[in-house]
Amino acid sequence: MREELQKIKEKALQALEEVEDEEALEAWQVSHMGRNSPLMNVFKTLGDLPEEERPLVGRQANEVKGALQKALEKKEKVLHQTQIRLSLQEERIDVTLPGRPKISGNLHPTTRTLREIYRIFGDMGFQIYRSREVETDEMNFQMLNFPPHHPAREMQDTFFVDGERDRGENPLLLRTHTSPGQIHAMWEYSSTNPADPPPLRIIVPGMCYRYEQISARSEIQFNQVEGLAVGKEITFGDLKGTLSDFARRLFGQGVGTRFRADHFPFTEPSAEMDIECFLCEGEGCTVCKGTGWLEILGCGMVHPTVLENGGYDPERYTGFAFGMGPERITMLRHRIEDIRYFWANDLRFLEQF
Ligand code: DAH
Repeated sequence: MREELQKIKEKALQALEEVEDEEALEAWQVSHMGRNSPLMNVFKTLGDLPEEERPLVGRQANEVKGALQKALEKKEKVLHQTQIRLSLQEERIDVTLPGRPKISGNLHPTTRTLREIYRIFGDMGFQIYRSREVETDEMNFQMLNFPPHHPAREMQDTFFVDGERDRGENPLLLRTHTSPGQIHAMWEYSSTNPADPPPLRIIVPGMCYRYEQISARSEIQFNQVEGLAVGKEITFGDLKGTLSDFARRLFGQGVGTRFRADHFPFTEPSAEMDIECFLCEGEGCTVCKGTGWLEILGCGMVHPTVLENGGYDPERYTGFAFGMGPERITMLRHRIEDIRYFWANDLRFLEQF
């Protein structure tokens, strides 16, 4: 019996040597330590042995069992280590491989120009005021001093909102310019203290719409940035100073500006601001059509009627306003010759910025 136990032990340990994974280890455990294993059979038959042999064999069998248990635990540890080593090897990261470039989008050229405009006016103390794109005829025209049949309405061919044409004198429409934002802002500010409204300094950026033949020079949608400053002692000098400074900050410190008289119903007097052509530095080229000047924005002193419509007493308050097209500015700066690129979503265009 002693010999037999020795053999059982040797055989089991030998078999364990050959075990290489956890599955085989489990099988080994069943066949060498399980209920029907030779070792367990020894325990089962202990009772058949002569009495004096029993304790001896019993002790030896327990020793073998203990030895096998120990060997099993050791093997388990080894297998576990091997597995970790293998998985580390398999999943090894080659840090010398070049990385895959991250594809990121970029900002639309108009957005870039808009952000520069926000920054410049932000530095000058202007706040951004958001105004709606669907407007009433009253806000888009009447409050801004366009009488019902004013010829300027012809220039701004309007998209009316479907089914709203019948609302008599005040149909809904897509705003043709950001100027109605002036009225919304003045209402909001003046309502806080109607007797003595606070001064305001805002820009109103956003999309505008006109019913136009789409061409290289005109689109049915485009952005505008409106500006409005209202206060008690605002003069045309403030307008010129602010806008010339804006031009220098956007186009470069050396850039010259000039103001030409113009006409808008909502400002009096009204002007256009030109900047010196930065392509030919005033010499005259195809972009400035030989004049040496580029038209950048419309501006003027807020018309008394408009101040009044906004809740500001024109006897006590004055203000200046301006409006510019960020797409036009972007086109000039990058010599883009066709405005249709802006909304065509062609990546070959957009990726250049
Ligand atoms: N609203 C004008 C347009 O769409 C632009 C403009 C001109 C805005 C003069 C102004 C201004 O505020 O003072 O063409």
